[in-house]
Amino acid sequence: EGVSEMTLRVNGTARTLRAEPRVTLLDALRENLNLTGSKKGCDHGQCGACTVLVDGRRINSCLTLAVMNQGKEITTIEGLAKGEELHPMQAAFVKHDGFQCGYCTPGQIMSGVACVKEGHATTDAQTREWMSGNLCRCGAYPNITAAVREVAS
Ligand code: FES
Repeated sequence: EGVSEMTLRVNGTARTLRAEPRVTLLDALRENLNLTGSKKGCDHGQCGACTVLVDGRRINSCLTLAVMNQGKEITTIEGLAKGEELHPMQAAFVKHDGFQCGYCTPGQIMSGVACVKEGHATTDAQTREWMSGNLCRCGAYPNITAAVREVAS
């Protein structure tokens, strides 16, 4: 299978890479662009560890081909902080201990950002429902929800 060149706009910067057309966005981010903040939990759309924003909407980056996302604005966990200043959702996760082992955290935070921005965080129950695709093996859900609640309020 041939390798082709593609350009992805990630965290405000155009990045050109060479990969097979079948490479997922997650693999392109992690392996071609060395943005390893997005995690590979299941690689099948079932854990949410790979969540990124594409044109402001969250997606599981393991379920979409990199090549399909050319021309779109991709935001990963690496793109949230402004220099040393954490994004409010990152700061809220720190404040509320929204992680234990931390593996799911980048995906939780990206999903939380979209949850608030799209208005799905009006109640804790609604937040939990909307973020139910983001699994946490440590069971930190109450703290994750508390972090999202703080940013939403
Ligand atoms: Fe994409 Fe699990 S790695 S949903």
